Amino acid sequence: MRKQIVAGNWKMNKNLSEGQALVADVLAGMPLLSENKIVVLAPAFLNIPETAKQLSGVAHVFCGAQNVHHEMNGAYTGEVSPTMLQAAGAEYVLIGHSERREYNGEHDALLVKKMNAALSVGLKPIFCCGEALEIRDANQQNDFVAAQIQAGLFHLSAADISQVAIAYEPIWAIGTGRTASAAQAQEMHAHIRATVASHFGSEIANEMSILYGGSCKPGNAAEIFAGADVDGGLIGGAALKADEFLGIVSAMVAK
Ligand code: 13P
Repeated sequence: MRKQIVAGNWKMNKNLSEGQALVADVLAGMPLLSENKIVVLAPAFLNIPETAKQLSGVAHVFCGAQNVHHEMNGAYTGEVSPTMLQAAGAEYVLIGHSERREYNGEHDALLVKKMNAALSVGLKPIFCCGEALEIRDANQQNDFVAAQIQAGLFHLSAADISQVAIAYEPIWAIGTGRTASAAQAQEMHAHIRATVASHFGSEIANEMSILYGGSCKPGNAAEIFAGADVDGGLIGGAALKADEFLGIVSAMVAK
């Protein structure tokens, strides 16, 4: 059965003690989750061991990372490898977030290497895609996002693709307060699922979780998540406040 997921991407926010407090507050108010309704918290690398410790023994809430290097070890100053993340307790990893594509020059070929490396050690990737405003204004978003998915995922085996979730994050909606409408989100998510199905078949596509990201808040989450192909969200700003994040988790649980 397809999983509904709310994942918090803390980005470069929260030091160790702030992160500890946020995790504690989130856990204190967490609604009842299940195997198919789960939560992922993705703090900065430095917080991962502590976050994973706080989540150990907590059912259906997992620690994630925001990035990973594509080699397991070696002379890569400043990088963190898949095996390091796994040893620290991360189970999920964001790959291809638009901020990393833009500010760190992460291109398709590199993302393929990251996907392969993460999957090879059993980390579950959340592969991010989404178009900039110019592309949406030119009505080319469907081709653009399909090309991102083809470039990043189509080389995977059936076993590997079934470990992957996709997050659709229109760049024009990230941190801007401007969300995609529920109809725009559903339309794109259906397109993403059809793109996955065109290569991997409808059984795999129907099992895949496709998350929406971009100014998701407690006030709009229920409407966005109501889309048949919207399987929860990847949350930035609202993941930094326990009450807002929990409001979004509750919307996912209620779906
Ligand atoms: P916001 O929720 O702050 O718009 O960020 C979305 C995002 O980029 C999550 O990865």
